[in-house]
Amino acid sequence: MRIAVLASGHGSNLQALIEAIAAGRLAATVSVLVTDRPEAHAVVRARRAAIPVEILPAGHDRVHDGALLMAMLQRYDIALVCLAGFMRMLAGNVVAAYHGRMMNIHPALLPQFPGLHAIRQALAAAVPETGVTVHFVDEGMDTGPVILQQRVPILPGDTEASLTDRIHAVEHRLYPQAVQWFAEHRLTLEDRTVRIAPHTTA
Ligand code: GRF
Repeated sequence: MRIAVLASGHGSNLQALIEAIAAGRLAATVSVLVTDRPEAHAVVRARRAAIPVEILPAGHDRVHDGALLMAMLQRYDIALVCLAGFMRMLAGNVVAAYHGRMMNIHPALLPQFPGLHAIRQALAAAVPETGVTVHFVDEGMDTGPVILQQRVPILPGDTEASLTDRIHAVEHRLYPQAVQWFAEHRLTLEDRTVRIAPHTTA
């Protein structure tokens, strides 16, 4: 299964997907990395893994950017789009075209703490736990149907850095798992509910 990863930053989730594929835990190919930041470390990781990189130029028109992105995804014959720290909102027509075929990972238990700085938000709210969510993307900001979530406790003395480390460790297991379920055709979207079919050996 051909996937595109869209990332603007460090790319540790891209790396987790690359490693899951290499380890045989994920039946997919990262066919392209799309980024809006050519200097992002995600680009270094993609090049190291011989993954083609496409730069989405810094445009100001979301519809125009959306048309560009859609052309890229079609050119690479992408079955699933994985947002992994991609810092741009996508045009509605791209989201609609990839309905049920575009995922995002978010460092909180959505619908808690959507948007930017979710880990900082959780610490500021002094909640006992936060977590990780993998969800399908809809038009909103971190509002799409949830595929998979895992709790991460907030420990006494946690800093943003220490909590981020534990959240990332969970992300790096959850994202490949959700993508593998998609590759196995086990995910169905009924209205806003994601159903996960049991694993079969057939
Ligand atoms: C992750 O925490 C992810 O949940 C959020 O952005 C961050 C990306 O990290 N959407 P990385 O670039 O994959 O290291």
